[in-house]
Amino acid sequence: MYVTGVLSLKGGVGKTTVTLGLAGAAAKQGLRTLVVDLDPQGNATTALEPGESETTVADALEHPSPAVLASSIAPSSWDDTVDVLVGSEDIERHNHPDPGSQRLGRLSRLLAALPRSTVADLDDTAPPRRGTTPGASLPHYELVLIDCPPSLGQLTRSALVAVDRAVLVTEPTIFAVSGVQRAFEAVQAERAHNPRLQPLGVLINKYRARSAEHEFRVNELRELFGPLVLSGVLPDRTAVQQAQGAGVPIQRWDTPGAREISQQFDVLLGRIVRAGHSAKERRGRRTG
Ligand SMILES: Nc1ncnc2c1ncn2[C@@H]1O[C@H](COP(=O)(O)OP(=O)(O)OP(=O)(O)O)[C@@H](O)[C@H]1O
Ligand SMILES: [Mg+2]
Repeated sequence: MYVTGVLSLKGGVGKTTVTLGLAGAAAKQGLRTLVVDLDPQGNATTALEPGESETTVADALEHPSPAVLASSIAPSSWDDTVDVLVGSEDIERHNHPDPGSQRLGRLSRLLAALPRSTVADLDDTAPPRRGTTPGASLPHYELVLIDCPPSLGQLTRSALVAVDRAVLVTEPTIFAVSGVQRAFEAVQAERAHNPRLQPLGVLINKYRARSAEHEFRVNELRELFGPLVLSGVLPDRTAVQQAQGAGVPIQRWDTPGAREISQQFDVLLGRIVRAGHSAKERRGRRTG
């Protein structure tokens, strides 16, 4: 199981869009995926339209047991392989501005209650399997995607404690660039609580090729973050809003703009899967 967080400290830059795009790309490959909706706005949950769940992510963080976790997860309406740890505005009570390490570790402990797979992790030739640990009518997820809220309170920081890689999303605009700087510093700071944590990279979204300002900011980002700026820039395409409005993955929206964006999500997912494989190899070398 490989855990990726999607964050930015600025609102509206595309965190949820990227989470959903990756979930759609993972579904296409048949990867067993859990989307964790950590944003009180619950946009990822709205988009994925999961079935009824007895409890939500807010309850699961309050009582991080396998049973509450299992009753807070519901299948998405998108694909059999994509489940949702259902969001709720009640999660705001877990967004303490100055949490101690006990609170920060809650999400990590919660995800540790998911059924673990040792061999089939991120192995796309292996069939999905069901877990045998308590509370595990749940499958072995190969990928966990966490959609973060646009702030640096307890929720985003607890995501950073729980993930292997963080995708930092930004628009090519001045305020977003300073937001990504702060997000990058947050990732570095949280490595004290989570040594596994690494930035996967800075993902530029809503890029308009004919905008001189966008071009300028993209160059500025490359100067600031060098190779950490991911080469696959996501263009601004109305297909994104159209697919979201229709409640379907961008991968099922058949327009040139949607295909262009879907291709970029395949590339990004490929990076995440490769990062997962290298992490597994490193673990293997340490234990073997
Ligand atoms: N590449 C894109 N092209 C066109 N529209 C986009 C693109 N990416 C995101 N959007 C639109 O921008 C708006 C904000 O996107 P999204 O909700 O993903 O941002 P967010 O960072 O999750 O926001 P919040 O901080 O509120 O959680 C949405 O209406 C979405 O459809
Ligand atoms: Mg969002």
